[in-house]
Amino acid sequence: MAAHLHQSNAPPTDQPKTPISNIVIVIAMETEAQPVVNKFHLIQDPHSPFPQGVPWVRYHGTYKGLNLNLISPGKDPTFGVDSVGTISSALVTYAAIQALQPDLIINAGTAGGFKARGASVGDIFIVSDCAFHDRRIPIPVFDLYGVGLRKAFETPNLLKELNLKVAKLSTGDSLDMTQQDESSITANDATVKDMEGAAVAYVADLLKVPAIFVKAVTDIIDGDKPTAEEFLQNLAAVTAALDLAVEKVINFINGKCISEL
Ligand code: ADE
Repeated sequence: MAAHLHQSNAPPTDQPKTPISNIVIVIAMETEAQPVVNKFHLIQDPHSPFPQGVPWVRYHGTYKGLNLNLISPGKDPTFGVDSVGTISSALVTYAAIQALQPDLIINAGTAGGFKARGASVGDIFIVSDCAFHDRRIPIPVFDLYGVGLRKAFETPNLLKELNLKVAKLSTGDSLDMTQQDESSITANDATVKDMEGAAVAYVADLLKVPAIFVKAVTDIIDGDKPTAEEFLQNLAAVTAALDLAVEKVINFINGKCISEL
């Protein structure tokens, strides 16, 4: 396995001792976001804090003691499909942090999973580390920059209380996987593969906002079914499981400080 620089998504040392009050949940796809919007009775902000004309959407509401903002990159203006992938997720995360100054980012979404590393369809993972698998720059140090390994904010109490599995996440801009991608994912020691996580981690790290990642497995990458087919087949059922996990995470967070997660 390649040696990686290990940057951290740790919050500043002067962690606030006050309870978390303002959360940004970044979700890329409408199908993934809608159950969460419904569960927490969030409403779409008619006066979006984002630049005029961008498709980015903010849903918001209060739940118990929390101010919840669900941010989605929305539909691509040209193609009309969800703006999945690293560019949109990085942009919308940056804009949401600037506009909303959250105490915590939660990136929730679906992912492919490796059965050889213990993943099954419907599994929910909390991510310990994020890295990219499609940014190959074979020049010393640029190689590490490309991989962009970052640790998620550590949540030992949340993991213990909710009994959730932990996995490393590898992010790239393709749903499918080339052999080169596969080698990099193996080098990243990843169990789950998505199209946004490491990009959200990059922005959260730049702006020093703690970030956690909740990923639900829709498809088995090392299985025998075509990825796109399996993904679409399982999307609705798995987003229901994701929604339940997000609810449990939000309930756990409620009333706690960052250092208590
Ligand atoms: N999201 C859901 N399944 C995925 C996969 N196989 N690769 C990337 N992102 C995904």
